[in-house]
Amino acid sequence: TEVDWDIEDARLGGFPHYMQKEIFEQPQVFYNTLQAVRESPDALDLLRGRDRLTIVACGSSYHAGLLYKYLLEMYCGVAVLVEQGSEFKYYPPPLSGTVIGISQSGETADTLAALKMAQSRGCKTVAVTNVVGSTITRMTDATIHLRAGPEMSVAATKSFIAQLAAGLGITDALTDGSHAEENTRINVRIEEILTIPITEAVGLCSSASSLFYIGRGLFYPAALEGALKMKEISYIHAEGYAAGELKHGPFALLSGETPVIAIAIPGAAYPVMLSNIKEIKARGAPVIAIGLAGDIELAELADIFIELPKAPESTAVATVSVLLQRLAYETADSLGRDIDKPRNLAKSVTVE
Ligand code: AGP
Repeated sequence: TEVDWDIEDARLGGFPHYMQKEIFEQPQVFYNTLQAVRESPDALDLLRGRDRLTIVACGSSYHAGLLYKYLLEMYCGVAVLVEQGSEFKYYPPPLSGTVIGISQSGETADTLAALKMAQSRGCKTVAVTNVVGSTITRMTDATIHLRAGPEMSVAATKSFIAQLAAGLGITDALTDGSHAEENTRINVRIEEILTIPITEAVGLCSSASSLFYIGRGLFYPAALEGALKMKEISYIHAEGYAAGELKHGPFALLSGETPVIAIAIPGAAYPVMLSNIKEIKARGAPVIAIGLAGDIELAELADIFIELPKAPESTAVATVSVLLQRLAYETADSLGRDIDKPRNLAKSVTVE
């Protein structure tokens, strides 16, 4: 008898692409990774009691590093410097204390080289990685293992959410644990994002030749990551910006053909985000606003309003990130792109 299936279909488990499968695994990944941080006492010991930390990473992992900066500065009062591995090696900042290297694969040459440089300057090093036994785990003093499981798609999704979970877990370990309970509910919130309808937003993005993503605070790195995901798999030009920077040049590019994805979650910068959206609208650019449920003012301002469940900022950064992954995925899918293997890219970049 002939068996009518192939191993690839079996691995995909009914999903059309690994990227979508990996997006859907995120509630569990988030939960598992929070646990993993608690089981990493050696790494946490190297992070505790420091008034300054340095982070090195590339790509999506660099964006996760920027999230760590906001979290650790806002909630722990620790000053954090985040550097791209490729810059750090040649132009190292003054160094002391502990340096964290974030790398899904644990094999990114620039991140490894940066850590080596930090070690040569007498720093302790901590790895945050998804691959057990990878080079980064063998060269650093301690490791926090992400529990994302193998990530097949070139685009980082579940590993990014795992990195965020680790960042929230670290933040919690370095403070009084007051966010611990809230963090354990984030997986449920992520689950809700997997089915939110985004067809209208996908339609607007797929017909655009250029997109801007804006946010402030934690939502600035989320905007950078959303834009990276969009350009990586849909091939649409997308730029992430700190919302306040748009008026320092990019405003010249705004028109009816350049949709702006604005993340406006209540917090310190919320009122100014609303002003930014008004300024963008006045220049003719359509706005896709991502906000919290029941935000009538934002809904009225936006051309398309995507509402997320009500949650504090540290939870909303996870739900926004997942929503932006879906926006990139569904846009790329509607354009018929080779989602899991985008052109010119490799899963891990092992050359400097
Ligand atoms: C993200 O979608 C990319 N594929 C890429 O930016 C990636 O995050 C980067 O190459 C770093 O990889 P690493 O986490 O394995 O070090």
